[in-house]
Amino acid sequence: RILKRQMECRRDIDRLNASFIEIYESLVLPQEEKAKQKQLLAVLEKLVNREWPQAKLYLYGSCANSFGVLKSDIDVCLAIEDANINKSEVLLKLADILQSDNLQNVQALPRARVPIVKLMDPVTGISCDICINNVLAVVNTKLLWDYAQIDVRLRQLAFIVKHWAKSRGVNETYQGTLSSYAYVLMCIHFLQQRRPAILPCLQEMEPTYSVTVDDIKCAYFDRVEKLQGFGSRNREPIAQLVWAFFNYWAYRHDYVNAVVSVRTGSIISKQEKDWTRRVGNDRHLICIEDPFETSHDLGRVVDKHTIKVLREEFERAADILQYDPNPCVTLFEPY
Ligand code: GTP
Ligand code: MG
Repeated sequence: RILKRQMECRRDIDRLNASFIEIYESLVLPQEEKAKQKQLLAVLEKLVNREWPQAKLYLYGSCANSFGVLKSDIDVCLAIEDANINKSEVLLKLADILQSDNLQNVQALPRARVPIVKLMDPVTGISCDICINNVLAVVNTKLLWDYAQIDVRLRQLAFIVKHWAKSRGVNETYQGTLSSYAYVLMCIHFLQQRRPAILPCLQEMEPTYSVTVDDIKCAYFDRVEKLQGFGSRNREPIAQLVWAFFNYWAYRHDYVNAVVSVRTGSIISKQEKDWTRRVGNDRHLICIEDPFETSHDLGRVVDKHTIKVLREEFERAADILQYDPNPCVTLFEPY
């Protein structure tokens, strides 16, 4: 009887795996979408270079970190080396230039937390946000991309977690829940922590890539092609990892003391970071350290109400994966 039960279990896991992989594949951006993004970037670059010949445009965020799902907007960074520029002036000038071309809904938001120009390209149908000199975001985009090359299970897990977060309404920083960037970092950290580990800690290895941005040294091992197969001693299938991820955030994470740190590949203490009390609007109720801006807690947006919402959602997800006969449907039900 035990053997029979074990075989049924095996079949359930196989079925769940197949469903998760199907969901993952339905979310991955098709090649032709990527080509359209490149095309739009080239158009923008030409326009920008007429005014600022030295300026460069970089894609960042989910269109460049390999965690982009269908229908996401693209994030572009305009990098101008001149240290004396006034960002708001450049932003308004940029909006002017784009407006006079064929682009639609051009709108400058100089007072946003990250000031941007928004636009829509009628040719490709792509919406785009352009920020100025946000080079750290370009560098952390590369870090995420590099991690994604090491083991396919990172992208699978992160796509499922992002899809869950969007479906359940817990992916809205302006409403006090977490950004996609924060969720991807949580996934990387989680896979660094599996035993055997599925991901290494690139920032603890001998650096092969190093840049200094806004006085922050960003250095890590980026020859990730050398790390192919790093996680192969761990054979956990994606269904098991999704379950363990939610179980960790529902029942095992120490919300009182722990900070999740991709930089060190481990848990560090709130004490050590002086993140034990509320400072201004930063409450540190769930702590996720930015890998480069280490004074920056990506959980700072979470307040005493939304921490409850988040934890209830983690518990809901964990319980569904444990007990629900059809978890792949229930998990992503709109809230
Ligand atoms: P979706 O648009 O939801 O698909 O995800 P995304 O990967 O584009 O994430 P998001 O829109 O949250 O952020 C875009 C990029 O901005 C991220 O990939 C990071 O590079 C950067 N970013 C976002 N939030 C922060 C932050 O708090 N600190 C820093 N340093 N960078 C951030
Ligand atoms: Mg984005």
